[in-house]
Amino acid sequence: MHFSFVEKFGASVLLTMWLVWGSIMIGNQLVHPKGANIDALRIATSEEQAAPAQAAAAGPDTTMTLLASASPEAGQKAFKKCTTCHTVEKGGPNRIGPNMWNVVGRKKGGAAGFSYSAAITGLGGEWTYEDMNKFISNPRAFAPGNKMTFAGVPTSEERAALLSYLRTLSDSPKPLP
Ligand code: HEC
Repeated sequence: MHFSFVEKFGASVLLTMWLVWGSIMIGNQLVHPKGANIDALRIATSEEQAAPAQAAAAGPDTTMTLLASASPEAGQKAFKKCTTCHTVEKGGPNRIGPNMWNVVGRKKGGAAGFSYSAAITGLGGEWTYEDMNKFISNPRAFAPGNKMTFAGVPTSEERAALLSYLRTLSDSPKPLP
């Protein structure tokens, strides 16, 4: 038998459509959009995003020790990845995330006028260096369900620098631990 180009082309279009349709159907079977499966998907995604932080957490967390000699200038540079969402000046606006002025020692979920998730307000207490270290190391693990879509800062060095910078955002910086 001899097929013309048009016939071959037509057949391959049909085959492709069939494959696409088939995988959609199989996909629907596998991931039926019901609550449980959506949860499973969300867990899978958050695990993926948390992966770098978890990899780093395999070693001892030396952030608190490094904090004593960490450089606020290095922290300010590292904070560039946070400025998409956070302002730092006194009285600065809330953006996607709350303003960071005075965040060390501030009530968790305490920036005026920012609409926090219950995951943050439900934490209770104030932002200590320790808690902030855990939060920025892996936001999803520390406050599951919070709305800061940020994977985390994997290294102790960078977290220490960030904390020493956040400390400076105050009229009376809190003593280092
Ligand atoms: C994509 C936007 C985004 C980025 C990037 C981001 N954040 Fe956030 N951040 C948020 C949001 C949104 C919240 C509030 C979360 C909630 O209410 O669930 C938040 C909350 C916080 C809080 C708690 C503040 C409070 O008042 O309780 C701290 C601390 C914080 N972020 C630090 C950082 C640091 C440090 C970085 C950079 C390493 C960073 N964030 C990067 C969006 C972001």
